[in-house]
Amino acid sequence: CGIVGYTGKRQAYPVVIKGLKRLEYRGYDSAGVALINEGLKVYKKKGRVTDLEEAAMGENLSGHIGIGHTRWATHGEPSDRNAHPHVSQSGNIAMIHNGIIENYDKLKKDLLAKGYKFKSDTDTEVLLNFIDDIQQNNDCTLEEALRIALRRVVGAYCLLLIHKDDPETIIAARKGSPLVIGIGKDEHFLASDASPIIEYTKEVVYVNDYEIAIVRPDELILKNLGNEKQTPFITRLDMELAAIEKGGYDHFMLKEIFEQPQTIYDCLRGRLDAGKGKVILSGIDQYAQQIMNAQRIIILACGTSWHAGLVAEYIIEELCRIPVEVEYASEFRYRNPIIHKGDVIVAISQSGETADTLVAIENAKEQGAIILGIVNVVGSSISRKSHAGAYTHAGPEIGVASTKAFTAQLTVLTMVALKIAHDKGSVSTERYMHLCQELAAIPEKVELVLEKADEVKALAEKYKDASDALYLGRGYNFPIALEGALKLKEISYIHAEGYPAAEMKHGPIALVTETLPVVFVATKDSYHEKVVSNMQEIKARKGKVIALITEGDTVSAAIADDIFELPQADEIVAPIISTIPLQLLAYYIGVAKGYDVDKPRNLAKSVTVE
Ligand code: G6P
Repeated sequence: CGIVGYTGKRQAYPVVIKGLKRLEYRGYDSAGVALINEGLKVYKKKGRVTDLEEAAMGENLSGHIGIGHTRWATHGEPSDRNAHPHVSQSGNIAMIHNGIIENYDKLKKDLLAKGYKFKSDTDTEVLLNFIDDIQQNNDCTLEEALRIALRRVVGAYCLLLIHKDDPETIIAARKGSPLVIGIGKDEHFLASDASPIIEYTKEVVYVNDYEIAIVRPDELILKNLGNEKQTPFITRLDMELAAIEKGGYDHFMLKEIFEQPQTIYDCLRGRLDAGKGKVILSGIDQYAQQIMNAQRIIILACGTSWHAGLVAEYIIEELCRIPVEVEYASEFRYRNPIIHKGDVIVAISQSGETADTLVAIENAKEQGAIILGIVNVVGSSISRKSHAGAYTHAGPEIGVASTKAFTAQLTVLTMVALKIAHDKGSVSTERYMHLCQELAAIPEKVELVLEKADEVKALAEKYKDASDALYLGRGYNFPIALEGALKLKEISYIHAEGYPAAEMKHGPIALVTETLPVVFVATKDSYHEKVVSNMQEIKARKGKVIALITEGDTVSAAIADDIFELPQADEIVAPIISTIPLQLLAYYIGVAKGYDVDKPRNLAKSVTVE
């Protein structure tokens, strides 16, 4: 979910609405605002922020304080009544919540026994009435009631509360779900990330877990749950407004796909000197020795970031000769994993806020592991919880399906592998120098692929009505097949499976018919001949083969029904290039089918629930 708050001299409603639109990528099944003007006013609606605006039209929307929410449902279906803000039974408090209250059931039973009635199915309303109840019974301030309540709460939250009798103060609390506070002159902005804040101020405070913020136009007080004041640590945002706007493209997704030559270049800049054969990653220098000597590396991530981890497994094992395991963070954290002191854990995350990844590294850290974060959002929770790391520097990614963040992750991970391998001496100088040059040439090659976007568009037209698709690849290209299939599922709602090409004959081949498109990621690498045989196997069963091939590969071209040629590249860096046409294919099919590619149904970009 996304949350926004404002208190200050401006009209709050337009600031909150604009902020919610910026945060819609975090969830978009319902939206709502609470304002104070002649009492507490709450407007909420199932659907997008624009549906909320329509519903609120004609109402009195004035007021200098406001909180707003855009939801990704956890407890309770998307509906008007489950939308946030919720109002306490007393009618005094309005609250919005991002996260999940795990012990809501017990709290709810106690409140029901006391005669409380609930208007929604949400865990949020339970917590809110719990706070309200404490305030009524103890005749205390809202801040005190919140503090008492949070000591009893199990779960994750970022909460914003306003009280009808205090038209200046927003009270906020955070544990596990992000909160940034922007500091203006006689005004403050609160949000799940910096994007709603950036156009007003660049001075921000990242609130920490177990902190409560009392925010007034001219005052920001931070306290811990023990009621001790904390000193706010003010950081300056290094981000421009233009970076979070569409800049002439139809969709953020397309803009972000086309930004990749630049984002990959930005990711390499100042870190890779191909001429001298130098990789400088100052963020991990301090731990380079430990990484080099690690008995094993465990990569933790979710979704697309997990696919980047799989590519890294192949690269690190090949170049560094260190065993690597890649795990879904959500599985790893719950299965009592064996972690030895000195194990190196690499957490990969675009948002830096994915709850499962965050908690997984917290647990591993307690057991003595070294945590490296490969994160895109600067200042995010995972980046702050890591011992060391490297930012991907892809800039804000707004399209819900990850594109430029993924290729930046691959770029950073390749640099990490090169650095470790070089320091360790597990790669020959010649190969190392060659790979540095190959990496430096990637932005240019990605540009060449993007110049042929229309070819992919034509393929999209041809195959858009397929009901299923298979994506196959081997070695470094196997995770790219998985990622291609994921993109298609996310954006065009076509059922797609990614498989190692050789595994296809152990099951998926049964699906092959004349109408099944089978996308091969078949660039020239050490697996190539085998992949060509797999292509033949599909053709022998009359499947439709769409092959991504290295330019000039006439053998594959003769077998495939359709081809897309990619520039020549070393197999270690080729996945970065092969990804691009698969992103475009999903995008163009999604657009051709009339879907909202930036906000695919049921998804959210930043999943801060477990
Ligand atoms: C969500 C997004 C995916 C993303 C995954 C992991 O499911 O929809 O695109 O890959 O979370 O997110 P992270 O921010 O940790 O990379």
